[in-house]
Amino acid sequence: MIPDHLRLELERRVSSAVTNREAAVDVMKELQRHFGWLTDEAVLIAAELLGLSPLQVEELATFYEMIYRRPVGRHVIHVCDSISCWSVGGETLLKKFEKLLGIEVGSTTSDGQFTLLPCCCLGNCGNAPAVMVGRRLYGPLTPESAGTLLEELLDTHR
Ligand code: FES
Repeated sequence: MIPDHLRLELERRVSSAVTNREAAVDVMKELQRHFGWLTDEAVLIAAELLGLSPLQVEELATFYEMIYRRPVGRHVIHVCDSISCWSVGGETLLKKFEKLLGIEVGSTTSDGQFTLLPCCCLGNCGNAPAVMVGRRLYGPLTPESAGTLLEELLDTHR
């Protein structure tokens, strides 16, 4: 179930898109924002709104790495592992996040605050190594500034 206002907004976006597939990412992102991740229920709702089968929505969801098909933490840290970031210390940065958070990449901290994921180029190569949290880009980060970023993110919810 989603609130009427959200359903109306999503129906409006679908009807204003040229094709339903064009609206798919938008719909999935909004449902993800509502549920915290793209739950099975959200897949069914998206399929109904878009006139697609649940399997088609699944396929689209797995294509986009910012759509989460399993529960994630309050903050999802996407660490770029593409060439520009990798060549200036992206791997070291990722290891530092793993150490600071006490988790391996692909996992969520036990308090539910952070999920750490690798990702493809964020289009922020000029500020490599780069990460994205929510809609915000950060970089260039160092192993030292990684800890500062985590503190800042925690502070935003204190
Ligand atoms: S390679 Fe990392 S932002 Fe482009």
